[in-house]
Order: sequence, then structure tokens, then C-alpha cells
Amino acid sequence: MSHTAPPAPEHADEPAAARVRHLTKTYGEGPATVRALDDVSLDIAAGRFTAIMGPSGSGKSTLMHCCAALDRPDSGSVHIGEEDITRLRDKALTRLRRDSIGFVFQSFNLVPTLDARENIVLPLAIAGRRPDPDWFDHVIDTVSLRDRLGHRPNELSGGQQQRVAVARALVSRPRIVFADEPTGNLDSRSGAEILELLRQSADDGQTIVMVTHDPVAAAYTDRVVFLADGRVVDELHHPTRETVLEALAGSA
Ligand SMILES: Nc1ncnc2c1ncn2[C@@H]1O[C@H](COP(=O)(O)OP(=O)(O)OP(=O)(O)O)[C@@H](O)[C@H]1O
Ligand SMILES: [Mg+2]
Repeated sequence: MSHTAPPAPEHADEPAAARVRHLTKTYGEGPATVRALDDVSLDIAAGRFTAIMGPSGSGKSTLMHCCAALDRPDSGSVHIGEEDITRLRDKALTRLRRDSIGFVFQSFNLVPTLDARENIVLPLAIAGRRPDPDWFDHVIDTVSLRDRLGHRPNELSGGQQQRVAVARALVSRPRIVFADEPTGNLDSRSGAEILELLRQSADDGQTIVMVTHDPVAAAYTDRVVFLADGRVVDELHHPTRETVLEALAGSA
């Protein structure tokens, strides 16, 4: 079951939306050094829904941040499409983040002074673009935010704020969406709606990488990559709740 060498055999003939090679990231110095990522190599297949799982502190968020150009690794490379993002300068990085990457943060990172609609279209507005009205409507209806579009984050529940964050990441149809525990703060019904939206988006060709602790959430994806101590230790294709639970028990 364990084959960590990229690319995964099953998808060997598919283009990778992201290619991670020998990624290493440490925090702190001396005896307090934490090796958050330790030589991680990984291919993210285009148009697929990939889950990242692993214990708290295993490096999942660090991996997402390095892949989305929100943090710089110590060594190794990350290609998004043809571009090695670890070699880009700040201006090019900003453009890449704006045009090619959607990110759902573990904490929602909404702008408190903007209402839900303004938060959702903010990345597009910054890029000088308007949302495709049909797609905007589809996303808003799927996350059930139609009657909350005029509310500010402090007037929304945690679950509603997270749905705004997911809508914001999807509405520009970026090359790749990274979602760090997008259903972590949701009740199971709202969580299922988000997962179905992500699943549907992937079926429509959107590449999505999602961190989750939940085997039921992982079962919506095409592939699960397991991290432990900053390393890729296992992976599963066509996961089910049961096979994910088995793999988690095996790698614990
Ligand atoms: N800014 C930072 N400064 C110092 N250490 C950090 C920093 N960010 C992360 N770490 C450490 O790096 C390791 C990996 O953290 P990371 O946030 O990637 O884990 P995670 O798998 O996302 O965990 P969780 O499931 O709790 O979100 C942890 O030991 C963490 O304490
Ligand atoms: Mg995390």
C-alpha cells in the first residue's frame, strides 16, 4: 500500500498541477529546532481532489503554505504548473498567488470590515476582474450564503465564515485550491455541503488539495497522502472511510 515515490503510478500519464521535490522547512534554532518538513516529494495531479492527513504537528499546514507561496522552504522546490515558485521574486509571487492559487485558511482570514459578498470577490477585485455571474451564483447557492451576502464576518457563525472562505477560494477558478481543514469548524451537514462542492469542482476540472483529520471527509477525495513528522509515510487511492481508518491505525 505504501508507495511514496512520485508520480503515483496510477496517474503517471496525467499532468501534475503541483510538483514538490525534496522540500525541507525548519523553524527555530539550536536545540529548539523543529523540522516541520523533512524531504517531502509529492505530485498533485491536475483536476484531482487530494487529501493530506497526519497527526497534529506533522507538517500539513507548513506543506500547504510552502506550496501556495505563503511561506518559503529552506530547500527543495515547488512547481505550480511550469513555474518553480521557490525561485520567484516577491512581485511574481504576488501575481502567482493572486491569479493561480486559492487558499482556505485553517482560521478563516476574512476581512472584518467587508461583508460576505465583498470578501468573496476580493481576490478578483484585486486582480481587476469580475466574477462570472453564473459561477458566482452556483458557488453561493451551494454554500447556502445567498441570504448572508450583506453580513460582516462578526455577524456570521463560524460555519458561515468558513463557507465564505471556501467560496472566496473557488470563485476565481484558480489553477489550484489549497484548503486547510475547510470543514473543521462545521457541523456535519454544512461540512458535507462544502465537501460536495469541492468534489463537484474537482469533477469539473478544479485541482484541490485539502488537509483534514476526518476519514469521512477524506473519502470524498481521489487520493490521500499521509504525513508523519514532516515526511510522506503512506498514500491511498480511491479512499473510503474504512481504508482511511485502517491506514491511520497503521501509521499511528
Ligand atoms: N511559525 C512557526 N514557528 C515555529 N514553529 C512552527 C511554526 N509553524 C509551525 N511550527 C511547527 O512546525 C510543526 C508543523 O506544524 P504544522 O502547523 O505544519 O502542523 P499541522 O500538521 O498543520 O498540525 P495541525 O493538525 O495541528 O494543524 C509543528 O511542530 C509546529 O509547532
Ligand atoms: Mg495545521
